[in-house]
Amino acid sequence: MGKKNIDWANIGFGYMKTDNRYVSNFKNGAWDNGVITTDDKVVLSECAGVLQYSQSCFEGLKAYETKEGKIVTFRPDLNAQRMVDSAKRLEMPPFPQERFIDAVDQVVKANADWVPPYGSGATLYIRPVMFGSNEVIGVKPADEYQFRMFCTPVGPYFKGGAKPIVVKISDFDRAAPHGTGNIKAGLNYAMSLHAIVTAHAEGFAENVYLDPATRTTIEETGGANIIFVDADGNLVVPKSASDSILPSITRRSIVQVAKDYLKLNVTERTVRLDEVHNFKEMGLCGTAAVISPVGKINDHGKEICFESGMEEMGPTIRKLYETLTGIQMGRLEAPAGWIHEIRLN
Ligand code: PLP
Ligand code: COI
Repeated sequence: MGKKNIDWANIGFGYMKTDNRYVSNFKNGAWDNGVITTDDKVVLSECAGVLQYSQSCFEGLKAYETKEGKIVTFRPDLNAQRMVDSAKRLEMPPFPQERFIDAVDQVVKANADWVPPYGSGATLYIRPVMFGSNEVIGVKPADEYQFRMFCTPVGPYFKGGAKPIVVKISDFDRAAPHGTGNIKAGLNYAMSLHAIVTAHAEGFAENVYLDPATRTTIEETGGANIIFVDADGNLVVPKSASDSILPSITRRSIVQVAKDYLKLNVTERTVRLDEVHNFKEMGLCGTAAVISPVGKINDHGKEICFESGMEEMGPTIRKLYETLTGIQMGRLEAPAGWIHEIRLN
């Protein structure tokens, strides 16, 4: 077997069915041993908890081929931990963290031919998902659950790859104060669908959500956290006034990269919408988005234009992008514990 015959450089961020996935079921109070299967179909009762009350959470991480031909994942322990946090908040039984990492190893190994080659611009996106699978009619948590982990090769999340995008300030909220914005619940994304369809129809790539309590501070977008660079070249990272931002693993890594590799000053604080015009650069960060530069924000017809412009990444965002992806793809030495190698034999 060898790599699949795919035009890796030209794939977008879409689903492509791969050969194998991992499935484990929770029943009678325990997770079973889990198996690798070729079966991509899920058969459920019409009354399954996930279908009635959206009891589901998910994760997203990537496998990369490094320059030396190793296959690695980036900080999968943090995805495992975040999925435990999501499960607890949704009254679901957490999937054990060490078993999550073992499932990553098994899924990537079983789909090794689907890992895009080093330098192709594509990566293997891994999607762990968990949902209530037995019948639930009164509003309560399910008793049975399925944990599944599948993968699909992907290209850039935003069309045009590293080209700056235009985003809008949304009139909708993706989360509520004291709600579920800080976990990776499927329901948060259902909340954002009308807003993203509206934004796309108006010609914008993403929505910037404001804090749902006061609608005066910057939170995040539908699928990524936000970073800014101020006039002095410092990194400014929005903090939520209502704890409704998803704790992005990419963003937490960027903060460390900025401090330790690039010796930048980093401030994590609430950022008011009315001060954003003072910043020089803006980026969206996440597993899917990596670091995508933003050229302009449209706030109800008023444009906030960043000095970095619409042609290329600004200099600081570029340095962060190159350092982060250098670490992820094995070109730069990583902090201890960040790179998890998948042993194929
Ligand atoms: N914010 C939202 C709403 C997301 O869906 C994601 C994607 O996972 C992120 C932020 C970025 O998080 P991470 O860097 O852990 O992928
Ligand atoms: C990710 O970056 O992994 C996400 O889950 C974002 C999603 C919108 C694709």
